[in-house]
This record gives sequence, C-alpha cells and structure tokens, in this order.
Amino acid sequence: MEAVDKMEKIKKERKDIIASFSKKKPVDTYIDKEVRNMRDLYHTVITDIYEETKDVKTFTLMADKDSSTPHLAPFKAGQYITIHVTIDSMPVTRAYSLSSAPAFANKDIYKITIKRVENGLVSNYMLDQVKVGDKMVVSKPAGEFGYSFIRDEDNVIAIAGGSGITPFMSLANAILDGVYNCNLTVFYSVKTYEDIIFKKEIEEINKKNKNVKFVITLTREEKDGYLHGHFNKEMLESYIKEFNTVLMCGPKELYKAMNEILNDFNIPRKSVHYENFFVQYEPEEKIEYKLKVVMKDKTQEITCNNDETLLVAMERASIKAPSLCRVGECGYCRSILLSGKVKMIGAALKKAEAENDYIHPCVSFPDSDIVLKLDI
Ligand code: FES
Repeated sequence: MEAVDKMEKIKKERKDIIASFSKKKPVDTYIDKEVRNMRDLYHTVITDIYEETKDVKTFTLMADKDSSTPHLAPFKAGQYITIHVTIDSMPVTRAYSLSSAPAFANKDIYKITIKRVENGLVSNYMLDQVKVGDKMVVSKPAGEFGYSFIRDEDNVIAIAGGSGITPFMSLANAILDGVYNCNLTVFYSVKTYEDIIFKKEIEEINKKNKNVKFVITLTREEKDGYLHGHFNKEMLESYIKEFNTVLMCGPKELYKAMNEILNDFNIPRKSVHYENFFVQYEPEEKIEYKLKVVMKDKTQEITCNNDETLLVAMERASIKAPSLCRVGECGYCRSILLSGKVKMIGAALKKAEAENDYIHPCVSFPDSDIVLKLDI
C-alpha cells in the first residue's frame, strides 16, 4: 500500500512539473535586457524652440541637471527618443527621430523636429503649448534604423517625404563630423518651397560638401533650383552606383512608389531599409468592442474601436499603459492577452512571447471583446 501511495505521489509531482513547463515564462533574452534598459528615463528641459516652417518646430532638449539626469546617452543617427507628456490628465508617449548630430549628445543635448498632424494629439500639444523652460521626460535613444558601416555600402541613397527628413539631417551631420566615411544623397520630397524643413542647413551643406547632397523635389510647385513632381527613375538615375544602400523615411505611399522605381534599378531588397513609424488598420466595418484591462491593483473596463490600437484606447481612458516605439519593435508594451482576438500589424513576437499569449498592444487592433493583463 505504501509503495502505491509513493508511486501516486511521484506521478503527481511529474504531472505538476510537466504542467509548469507547458506555461513556462518567456526566456530572458538580450531583447528583454534592452527593454529593461529603456525603462531608464531622462529628465530634460526645453532650451530652444525653432520654427522650421509654419507647421514644423525643432525642440532642443537639454539634460536637466537639477533633477536626476546629469547626462544624456550617446545615440546613432537614425535613432529615436520617446517623449512622455500628460495632456488633459492623459499620460501619452510619442516616438520622434532625433534630428540633431550625434555629437550634440556629448553636450547633453537632443533635438527633435515635430510636424503638426491633423487632429494629432501630441504634435498639436507640442507645437501650440510647449514653451522654452518646460521640463520633459524622455526615454533613452533606441531603434535600429540608420547607416551601419558593417552592413551598408559606401553609396547611400536616402529617400525622405515631409517630416521623414529628420533622421537624415542627423545622418548628414554625422557624416560631415567624420563619424561615417560614405557618400549620402538625400532625395527629399515636399509639397511646396515653404514646406522645406531645415532649408538653411540644407543650402549650406549643398554649397560646401561633396559627399553629402540634398536633392529636393516640390510636388505642388515649380521653382528654379528644384525638381518638380514626384520622384521618378530619371531623377535618381545619375546617383545610383553599382552597389547602393537605400534608406527610406516617410509616408507609406512614398515607400510603395519608390519600391517600384528601385525594382527598375535591380537594387536587392536586403539593401533597402525603412523607418517604420506608422501603424494603421482600416477595417471594412467599424465595431466598438469591450476592453477589460487587468492591472496589479485594479481592473478597468473601457471601449476600444476596431480601427484603434489597444494602447490608444487605454491612453484615451487615462490608463498608464507602458509604451515606447509604438510600432511593435521594442517589446516594451508587451502584455498578456487573457481572452479575445486581436489583429497585430507588423509586430515581430518572439516565439516564447507568442507561446505565452503575449501581444504588443501598440500594434494590436481588437477583433472581439478583449481581456488584457498589464504589468502595472
Ligand atoms: S511600444 Fe514598442 S513594441 Fe509596443
């Protein structure tokens, strides 16, 4: 009898061990470490606001030495920071590419350049309400977009639309400062002459430098010294060499049009890199779902439309959900889907995350009522 009991006990223990393995925690990888790193926030103060065009401003942020931030971390041209602001009691974050030369970080300065977006909550707040002297909390620089001297060719073609010029201004200055030894041609498309961001800087660079050049086309205006219309094969032809790296930053439509042109030049896909800063999903029919958010000390039930991400719905309801990149890349917003279905646009989940029902709310659109567990 004793032997039977012992056997039953062993069987039960084995069962428990197997059950615990089937729901094992995601493996702690270098990405998790990166995410933990990103939790470090910097306190900055706005020391200058420069009006680039009627709806674009460059903000200079300096380490706020009176707070817990004596210095700002170095960054690579092409990286972004996430700003944390509270608008009408609603905590929100937005990621913006750094537009300043990486060398500015040595002086504890970051610059971001923000364009007004129609009905854009954060862009309108930044352009209309933020003033010199205001304090701002920002993340460490992050992101993989930009030039890599190990991966990339010496002839770099950058294609920018509208405010997509910002990472390339940082890259242009990094090259001029001697950080990279490559040739850069920035093809920059804007509607009119008045819409050109960094106009003065671009003119100066074009006058003085051979290895960095800006080629600007105005899509809705004709003006001496500028190309006219959308970029086409003929405009790019003389700048394409045998081996090229192409970097793109701008609206989706620009990527689509440029990809067709790049196909004509036989530029391999692996040589083309995109900055991804939009997440969009247009369902055929608009539906409002219930979203139950389970936090450490409370549960809150809100609504979420199927054309907005779970993150946006939570921010609308003043829930302090974690977020940084907002495009599914950094993993910082990772949360557990307890029940329901979502459409995740463009997020690369790790295998262990997917196996354990993790999702990235910043790129998840509801496809049913949802119960979500946040780690806050
Ligand atoms: S905020 Fe970066 S993955 Fe969601």
